[in-house]
Amino acid sequence: MEEIKQQLAADLAAAKSAADIENIRIKYLGKKGLVTNAAKSANFGAMSVEEKKQFGQKLNDLKNFATESIAQAAEKAKSAAPAKKKNAIDLTMPGEPSTIGSLHPVTLVQMELESIFQGMGFMVYTGPECEEEFFNFDAVNIPSDHPAREMQDTYWMTNGRLMRTHTSANQVRTMRKFGAPLKAIFPGRCFRNEATDACHENTFYQCEGLMIDKNISVANLIAVMKTALSEIFRRDVKVRLRPGFFPFVEPGFELDLNCLICGGEGCPTCKNSGWLELIPCGLVHPNVLRFGGIDPEEYSGFAFGVGLTRLAMMKYGIRDIRLLNDGDCRFLQQFPVIV
Ligand code: PHE
Repeated sequence: MEEIKQQLAADLAAAKSAADIENIRIKYLGKKGLVTNAAKSANFGAMSVEEKKQFGQKLNDLKNFATESIAQAAEKAKSAAPAKKKNAIDLTMPGEPSTIGSLHPVTLVQMELESIFQGMGFMVYTGPECEEEFFNFDAVNIPSDHPAREMQDTYWMTNGRLMRTHTSANQVRTMRKFGAPLKAIFPGRCFRNEATDACHENTFYQCEGLMIDKNISVANLIAVMKTALSEIFRRDVKVRLRPGFFPFVEPGFELDLNCLICGGEGCPTCKNSGWLELIPCGLVHPNVLRFGGIDPEEYSGFAFGVGLTRLAMMKYGIRDIRLLNDGDCRFLQQFPVIV
């Protein structure tokens, strides 16, 4: 009986779970258990009355000891295990992702640009889509007899206004409103009377940028463009400037981006040139500064016009511009907002 007691104590010490303890209970106190059957090994015939009494006493002690120590161990195991209530919520579980609809790919790129430029101290200004002829054309050095007007087939309103053909219309608007120095971007919708195909739309988005201060040079332009593009494409980008003509900048440039697909080796995306034509830009023409009430002897500035639509197409690999204005839910749902 002493052996059984020791063995039981060792078994209980090794038990790890409530199930282990239940097995121990069966092993010792079950119908064929070691304690239950301990009396069987005794040779009662050879015992005196006194001896039988003592044996019975010990057997009872063993049973009591076994019952009590097993019950205690079971109680301990129960309180150690976490209580599993029905429908209990585990607050540490990560939530299930859910969506609250989609944001248009152009909106996504616009929001990203806004935060990048706001980080560099630029303000965001939008201006009217239905614009005065003066701000869209004359103020940016495109008088009515200028051939550049023909490059931008214009939707004219019956009241003499027009649907702005570019966000450059905001250049003189903001110069007059805020004066110099000035750092602003103007994201927004523009309109041109164009035949549509995979690369052309009559409604598209631009994001103009304007920085005016003392001693602004092409170096500032390149630095700002490189910083912004590296953030958008999340890598260090290489850019180059080629001469380009726009009446409101002098000198004017086309800023090219080293092809992101082939790294400059040449591929179908960059038409084997290694470069992607991306951002028209330049230093603000003195005439434009004058229209804005800013003295070109004292201040200079740069301006650029990012094609937001084109940028969104490049960033998300969208091949047909018309998808952006179709309102097809199957297309839009590919840009879910995850909260
Ligand atoms: N407004 C020009 C366009 O729409 C782009 C541009 C903006 C060029 C700023 C130079 C500077 O084509």
